[in-house]
Amino acid sequence: MFQSKIAGIGHFVPEWEVTNEDLTKVMDTSNEWIVERTGIQSRRYGKRHEETTAVLGTKAAVAAIENAGIEKEEIDFIIFATLSPDYFFPGCGVLLQRELGITNTGLGALDIRNQCSGFIYALSVADQFVKTGMYKNVLVVGAEMHSMGLDFSTRGRNVSVIFGDGGGAVVVQPTENKNEGILTTHLHSDGTYAEKLAFLSPGSHAGYHQKYLDEKLDYGFSDETYGELFLNEKMLKDGLVYPQMEGPFVFKLAVQKFPEVIQEALDKTGLTTKDIDMLVPHQANLRISQFVQKKFGLNDHQVWNNIQKYGNTTAASIPIALSEAVQTGAIQKGNLVCLAAFGSGFTWGSALIRW
Ligand code: UT7
Repeated sequence: MFQSKIAGIGHFVPEWEVTNEDLTKVMDTSNEWIVERTGIQSRRYGKRHEETTAVLGTKAAVAAIENAGIEKEEIDFIIFATLSPDYFFPGCGVLLQRELGITNTGLGALDIRNQCSGFIYALSVADQFVKTGMYKNVLVVGAEMHSMGLDFSTRGRNVSVIFGDGGGAVVVQPTENKNEGILTTHLHSDGTYAEKLAFLSPGSHAGYHQKYLDEKLDYGFSDETYGELFLNEKMLKDGLVYPQMEGPFVFKLAVQKFPEVIQEALDKTGLTTKDIDMLVPHQANLRISQFVQKKFGLNDHQVWNNIQKYGNTTAASIPIALSEAVQTGAIQKGNLVCLAAFGSGFTWGSALIRW
């Protein structure tokens, strides 16, 4: 068995900066509310007609490939995590392959649908492929173009003020040095509360799931209906085509699961919180990161937060944050880096990396 390491990293955020003040022009919200509840001051939105999720992911991937010092043709597997794909299908993995101009069909492309923990899931899959010797250069990408699919009316304000666009990527390679690389990854899920943070339509549920049954939601579902079950006008009107979240419910679970899954990774490796040089949490809410920081007694230099300027970029948030921390020298060779995430599904996970 090999050990795998992150051999290259890069990120890309669009230029268009949208401040909290900008959002007050389209919905009933305030800078004070957003800063106090989330820590977010601004976020980036992709350029319409030019930047899609696959494009943002590609820009990050180009930087990661260059940073790894390899040619794009050397990539032998692509893993793309996103909840805001260009198309319902095919996934962004193949679109990124096309954007990169990789015509080699000897590689595979996989899409990961694990929302906020998507990057950790993707990294874990890459780790397994590299460890077993199956692949030598796995490109792992997390990217989101949330701004194209948010409800910018006051109805959607609890969700739409949080999210931003961007992409991050890493190249995972084998290493013979047992003192570096991915030490452990931990993945979890619990589908009980799937609809507490979800994007429900279009979909094939046809009113089957608990939320519809409990709330007696009628979208014209009947045994004889064709076609319209996937998406109809009432679903559009009711905003089912936008992400919906029971924020306080998600928050309570997040502050429980983040510490749990970090501790699990530490226990597995026989390390303690004192060994962590940098915690890179999924940027869900600054209050969540601060809670975790306090719980583990970490100082401000041991936790990377950039939600203030990018918002929550879901699958992209960890690779963007990691890339920034590496670029600025906040993560140095030999440092112990901890990644952790919790989000829709619910799914959550952690990884420990010796940089
Ligand atoms: O990344 C994936 C995982 N996601 C998370 O971990 C997110 C976890 N949850 C959260 O971060 C927080 O719950 C939110 C930031 C989403 C919301 O903050 P909150 O402190 O839990 O607020 P709330 O949802 O309990 O709403 C409090 C009030 C409500 O008004 P009333 O009913 O008290 O009059 C909301 O209508 O704030 C109102 N509100 C807003 N007001 C101004 C909700 N959104 C906004 C807004 N601007 N954008």
